[in-house]
Amino acid sequence: MPKKKTKTEEIQEETQESKEEHVEEKAASKKKEKDTSEAKLPSTSRKATPKPKDSSISKNEASQDEGEPKATKLEDLPGVGPTTADKLREAGYEDLMSIAVAHAGELADCSGLAASAANKAIAAARKAMGMGFITGDEILKKRELIGKISTGCKTFDELIGGGIETQCLFEAFGEFGSGKTQLGHQLAINVQLPVEQGGLNGMAVYLDTENTFRPERIKQIATAAGLDPEKALKNIMVARAYTSDHQMLLAEKIDELIRTKKLPVKLIIVDSTMGLFRAEYAGRGTLAGRQQKLNRHLHTLQKLADVHNLSVYLTNQVMARPGIFFGNPTAAIGGHILAHNSQFRVYLRKGKAGKRIARLIDSPYLPEGEAVFKISADGIEEA
Ligand SMILES: Nc1ncnc2c1ncn2[C@@H]1O[C@H](COP(=O)(O)OP(=O)(O)OP(=O)(O)O)[C@@H](O)[C@H]1O
Ligand SMILES: [Mg+2]
Repeated sequence: MPKKKTKTEEIQEETQESKEEHVEEKAASKKKEKDTSEAKLPSTSRKATPKPKDSSISKNEASQDEGEPKATKLEDLPGVGPTTADKLREAGYEDLMSIAVAHAGELADCSGLAASAANKAIAAARKAMGMGFITGDEILKKRELIGKISTGCKTFDELIGGGIETQCLFEAFGEFGSGKTQLGHQLAINVQLPVEQGGLNGMAVYLDTENTFRPERIKQIATAAGLDPEKALKNIMVARAYTSDHQMLLAEKIDELIRTKKLPVKLIIVDSTMGLFRAEYAGRGTLAGRQQKLNRHLHTLQKLADVHNLSVYLTNQVMARPGIFFGNPTAAIGGHILAHNSQFRVYLRKGKAGKRIARLIDSPYLPEGEAVFKISADGIEEA
């Protein structure tokens, strides 16, 4: 074992370890970021899985294959009859886009299709969706729509480039009491503020897996932010999840909430992301099943972020292991999967005199750094 390291080195190392598998993907995507275009080109990496896009940019996509009628519903796909289509719908694949971005294995598992047939169905769905390469300026156009939600603390905002961005997953990890839930509450308020005040004039959806959502606290923070506390509460849709499947299902329902009820949801909070997964899979020999489910869950969230131009704030508890002098002081739960899927990762820890330190661990284009903030009766504040 190596000699004792500084905390910073340990955190960096942890991040490093959890990424090795996909260093290349990350490097590639970081390079693209530098060119101010978040190129999410299909088939280059898992992170860059083709995703549903804002209508503003999907129009011009290549539709080279004229002649053949394009599929418009599941039953139009090759090899998919009414029974298979029903099975797919039951499994949550309700439209062509969901098929287009699916994995063949998953599709085969839930529908009974052979893997080759699943691949054909996916290919046809992709064709129908006109998925392919899009030009850099279209990506730029999409990126120009990115909004930012203030954390309530200016230095924290600066650390993360102005606030929590839309179109991406933002993970806060840290031990108990480090402020993950408090930040979630603050963001649920701040998203409601006008843009000039660091908000997005939007609503929040709060997926509560640990029963830590507190309306009283929301009222307190809302009042401090100058909002009507009762109205602020009405702008937060809360769902308590009891199992990881329930949590996944709730996330899938958000799309419907936005589309059918036309709710201006601009922030989804999942607090905590891993708690139920961890509890249910505790002590099992293999984590593969858990990771696969978690991956699907994160894909659902990423899709929502992309399609509806909203922010996703994920919390993840890590255990402090003060007795450990070598290696990591924290054990990230969720392992690689969560780390790879979050474009922003912030490590929160307790500092002296009730202060909290946020450390930016992973961002597509910002340098690592730290910001100090505090939690008061009014919420997240300048330290
Ligand atoms: N009204 C308040 N006024 C001041 N500080 C508060 C208030 N409410 C909570 N806090 C601070 O926030 C801390 C709890 O933070 P929070 O619940 O966000 O932690 P967490 O990271 O979500 O922890 P866990 O992993 O257990 O969920 C408390 O220990 C307290 O210091
Ligand atoms: Mg919490």
